[in-house]
This record gives sequence, C-alpha cells and structure tokens, in this order.
Amino acid sequence: MGFVYLLCVCLLLLFQQSLAGQQYNNVSRALKGKKQLSGCNLFQGKWVFNASYPLYDSSACPFIADEFDCKKYGRPDKQYLKYAWKPDSCDLPRFDGRRLLTLWRGKKIMFVGDSVSLNMFESLSCIIHASVPSANTSVATRDSLSSVSFKDYGVSIFLYRTPYLVDIVTENGSRVLRLNSIEAGKSWKDMDVLIFNSWHWWPHTGKSQPWDYIRDGSGLYKDMDRLVAFQKGLTTWAKWVDLNVDPAKTKVFFQGISPTHYQGKDWNQPKKSCGGELQPLSGSTYPGGAPPAAAVVNRVLSLIKKPVYLLDITTLSQLRKDAHPSTYGNDPSSNDCSHWCLPGLPDTWNQLLYAAIVM
Ligand SMILES: *[C@@H]1O[C@H](CO)[C@@H](O)[C@H](O)[C@H]1NC(C)=O
Ligand SMILES: *[C@@H]1O[C@H](CO)[C@@H](O)[C@H](O)[C@H]1NC(C)=O
Ligand SMILES: *[C@@H]1O[C@H](CO)[C@@H](O)[C@H](O)[C@H]1NC(C)=O
Ligand SMILES: *[C@@H]1O[C@H](CO)[C@@H](O)[C@H](O)[C@H]1NC(C)=O
Repeated sequence: MGFVYLLCVCLLLLFQQSLAGQQYNNVSRALKGKKQLSGCNLFQGKWVFNASYPLYDSSACPFIADEFDCKKYGRPDKQYLKYAWKPDSCDLPRFDGRRLLTLWRGKKIMFVGDSVSLNMFESLSCIIHASVPSANTSVATRDSLSSVSFKDYGVSIFLYRTPYLVDIVTENGSRVLRLNSIEAGKSWKDMDVLIFNSWHWWPHTGKSQPWDYIRDGSGLYKDMDRLVAFQKGLTTWAKWVDLNVDPAKTKVFFQGISPTHYQGKDWNQPKKSCGGELQPLSGSTYPGGAPPAAAVVNRVLSLIKKPVYLLDITTLSQLRKDAHPSTYGNDPSSNDCSHWCLPGLPDTWNQLLYAAIVM
C-alpha cells in the first residue's frame, strides 16, 4: 500500500516537473520568437545621427513634467536630440500615433512602476500628441494614479506609481516592505496593456529608503541583500501576472533595467558622470557590462508562465550617457544621471513598444 502510494506520488512529481519544464520551454520560445520578430532583434543595434529627430518639441507637448524638460531648464546642446536607434537587421517602423490610437481604440494602457515609468508615460503621451496635435485630451491625477486620455479615440493611458511593485504597509508604527504582498495589483486589473518597471528604488538606503523593515513571509529583517530582495519582490509580481492576467485580453510588457550614468569608470572615463556628455557611445556594447539587476529580471521572466514581452532597453540605454538631465532638470543643485530628458531616450523605448505591437 505504502509503496504504491509513494510510487504514485513520485510519478506525479515527475509528471509535474516535466510539465513545468515544457511550460518553461514554451514561454522562453515565445519570448525569443517575439524578440526575433521577422528575423530582427530590435534591441541589438546602434545609435545613428538623424537630422529629422526629435519627434516633437518639448514646448508643444502639454504633458512633460519639469524634471524632464531639459530645454526649458537651459540645456544648451541639441545634438543629443538627433540620435535614432537602428537595429542591425531591420529598420524600426516609423511611429504613427494615429495608427496606434486606432489600434488601441476604446482601450486602457497602464504603466506601473517608479519615476522611470513616469518618464516613459510622458514620452508616449507626447509622441502620440505630436501625431494628432488637435485631438481632444484630458489629464487627471489622483493619489498614485495619473492619466492622459485621447477622448476622440476612447484611449486612456495611465501611470500607477509604485516603485517596488510589492507593498509598503505600516505595522506597529513601522514602515514595512512586504516582499510577498502585492495588494496594489487590484488597480491593474481590467487593463488591455500593462507595462511594468522596477529597480531604481531597491538599492536606496538612508534617508531615501522609504521603509524600516523588510518582511519575507514570517521573517522580519532590518535589511537584506538588495538583489535578493528584488528577486523575491519580482517573483511575487510574476505570480500576480500568472494568477491575474488573461493573455487573450491583456498584453504584458516588462521594461528592462534603465541604467544610470554616475560612474564614468563604467565607460572608461573615470573622472566623469553624465554632466557635459554630448554624444552616445559608439558601437553596440557597453564597457561596464550588464547591471546585475538585469540578470534578475531575465531569471524571473524565464519562470513566468504567461507571455510577457521584455522591452530589452538596457544596453541601448547604457550607450546614452548624453541623454540625462544632469543639472538641467528643475533642481539645478542636483545632478540627475538617472532620469532622461524629453524629448529623448524614452521616445525610443516607445518606438520599440510600437514596433513590438505592430510588427
Ligand atoms: C507547449 O507548446 C506545445 C506546442 O505549441 C503545446 O502543444 C503544449 O500544450 C504546450 N505545453 C504547455 C505546458 O503549455
Ligand atoms: C530618419 O528618420 C526618419 C523617420 O523615422 C526616416 O524616415 C529616415 O529614413 C531616417 N533617415 C536616415 C538617414 O536614417
Ligand atoms: C473634439 O471634441 C469636439 C467636441 O466634442 C468635437 O467637435 C471635435 O471634432 C473633436 N476634435 C477632434 C479632433 O476630434
Ligand atoms: C508588530 O507586532 C506583531 C505582534 O506583536 C509582530 O508579530 C510583528 O512582527 C510586529 N511588526 C513589526 C514591524 O514590528
């Protein structure tokens, strides 16, 4: 009896394992297949000068926050606006905001994440607006939710601010980052397109760390390795996607890690940061290599069962040491080598999002 029971359990486990393996293979094949659309890896390429760029003027876009409006805050050089991403084995389709609005008619699109998501959200609103400058729009902001609606098309683009994706809650008067809890996800259901991003806040310490403890299951910790914490939090997000997303309705994207340029040694100019950089790095590889957080993203995405398209923007963004606000954000005393000027690099991220949708 006991032996038969054990045998059954073993066979069941074996079966489940092979099923899990099959799913894993299917998903990685799906991801790879998408990345190689029409035989083209959109994320492998180089930056080329193109005089027809940028796609809009910052003063003509009603949706840019001051912190990204480098022109308004006196950035004197213009060349950084003139680079276009050229994949090695194809051309990016020309961004057509009217076509996108038509494809998205009646739909809801949501960015979820930190201020890098805000950067991409504003960029998308601006490049679409540049295609249909007389379209009726409305803007709303409430708590962690902002939106821009293109009313003639019934298209709403949302931004849900939640820098860790997982929750921060108050326990006995202390702020606790809960690696296994993602209550905010309630607000992400019902979307037709979801574009997630997280990382920048995970390494924050001291005054810029918005929590006192980390909770992982029943364990409560004063701190832990931040990459390990990121992997645990992102795994909670992955489970949320597997449980809550219906792929027939909702397309899910994950934005790769957006790099910073505070350390010139990463591009072999140890005395520099992003300030005063006027040009991208040439070629297709970054001397500093991939950030460790990118490996965490790849690992978690490879285990997720539902289709998630990785907007693999890390390397192409690493090449753009020239594209940050530096001292030309709204706070001249800070040197911002983390966000990106608008117009600028996030417009390319959105062109890639567009390519992933239409190609
Ligand atoms: C994997 O893909 C094959 C062929 O596309 C399909 O028949 C099979 O059901 C899939 N397996 C899983 C576990 O999704
Ligand atoms: C510059 O970009 C425009 C718009 O995407 C494109 O039509 C044109 O071919 C590009 N020019 C060059 C020289 O690549
Ligand atoms: C904007 O809305 C007004 C009033 O509903 C309408 O007359 C106009 O045609 C709309 N504009 C566009 C570009 O659709
Ligand atoms: C709050 O109090 C409960 C009950 O004493 C305890 O289990 C929990 O770990 C405490 N949380 C924090 C963050 O101190």
